[in-house]
Amino acid sequence: MIPGFLKRQQYTLPLPLEPPTVCVIAGDDAAPEVVRPTVEVLRLLVPDIRFVEAPGGREASERYGDAFPDETRKAIDTAACTLFGASGGPSRPILWYLRWGKETYVNVRPVRWCSGYRSPMLHPQYIDYVIVRDNLEGMYPPREGDIAELRALSSSNSWWQTPPTGKRGAYAVRVYTDEQMYRLAVAACELALFRQAAGYPGCVTLGAKYSILPRTDGRLRTIVAETVRAYPGLSYQEFLIDDLARRLIASPETLDVVVLNNEHGDILADVASGSIGGLGLSPSACFGEGYAYFEPVHGSAPDLVGKGIINPTAMLLSGAMMLTYLGYTEQAEQLERAIEQIYLDGINLTRDQGGSASTMEFVDAVVEAIVSMN
Ligand code: NAD
Ligand code: IPM
Ligand code: MN
Repeated sequence: MIPGFLKRQQYTLPLPLEPPTVCVIAGDDAAPEVVRPTVEVLRLLVPDIRFVEAPGGREASERYGDAFPDETRKAIDTAACTLFGASGGPSRPILWYLRWGKETYVNVRPVRWCSGYRSPMLHPQYIDYVIVRDNLEGMYPPREGDIAELRALSSSNSWWQTPPTGKRGAYAVRVYTDEQMYRLAVAACELALFRQAAGYPGCVTLGAKYSILPRTDGRLRTIVAETVRAYPGLSYQEFLIDDLARRLIASPETLDVVVLNNEHGDILADVASGSIGGLGLSPSACFGEGYAYFEPVHGSAPDLVGKGIINPTAMLLSGAMMLTYLGYTEQAEQLERAIEQIYLDGINLTRDQGGSASTMEFVDAVVEAIVSMN
């Protein structure tokens, strides 16, 4: 029930006897430009880890006639976890497999400003919370159809209008299972507890549209509230999702662990990222009972492809989350400190952060900072 990441952090499991294998999926467009240097940095930090880059996306389509060849599925299955760049379309079947095939049910998206991040906020120093997003349900995977198919369906009894089945149009279905909502809530509580031990307030915040969608968001509200109640040391607050969106900007210092459904988590993670300085800075990790994969919040940045200027920070920090998951906590901290140092110095920043450094100049500076620590 408890995601491996939290379990490992809480009880500090010993390092695995055998060095782990990590599957690497470079992804589409500009994603490989941050994935491959990240792997080099991780290799420097933990030479023992075996990284296996598996083919995928357009290149695999051209070479094997399949964007998601069997050998890539096997590489994912046999690895301890996967490091994923981003999908701009061609690699999407691999992303679907990592989410639904491996049942990675919770997406953890830390939102933390560091000195030197180019935030548009007045007081960014107070931004330090984590979004815990449903990674499997809600409006994903898309189930859509013609309005006419809704003839058999009555609206929620709190609503007055029947579906306009005589008109042309389309619908989408939102599905929540109790099992998924419950384990999402447990993950949020365990994370809040873990953060509390490090000095955070131990507060779980739910954002949802429970006023309008009582059966889905309303049920999520009940389940999250009840789950938090079972953790006596934690506190709970809830806001309608539109008000929570405002709070991310107006009072981020009141947030610690924020639970969101799949689509709200997708959208608000980008808003949150904008508040600390942009998508180039936001890492994420997706955990299941038996698997985990790590990817930045951002997409494949097709507008940056081949320019050598994409910011690798989000990918590197996702790599740090992976090292923590694998038990290499010291090396993960080293990597985070090295990145923080680059932002403090402010000399090797990429363009999105107001600098003029290339991706590789930033990475080289991180490597230098790591080397000088040892
Ligand atoms: P995007 O995140 O790729 O880019 C949005 C904007 O942010 C662009 O201007 C881009 O240049 C900038 N940006 C993103 N990452 C950056 C970085 N590391 N450094 C500097 N600037 C960065 O989102 P989009 O343009 O809406 O989507 C592009 C493709 O990525 C789409 O196909 C989308 O579906 C996909 N996508 C995939 C994932 C994923 O695989 N997990 C996540 C989000 C989007
Ligand atoms: C994300 C992305 C994905 C999502 C896309 C690529 C399906 O935007 O991970 O945030 O919507 O979950
Ligand atoms: Mn997204």
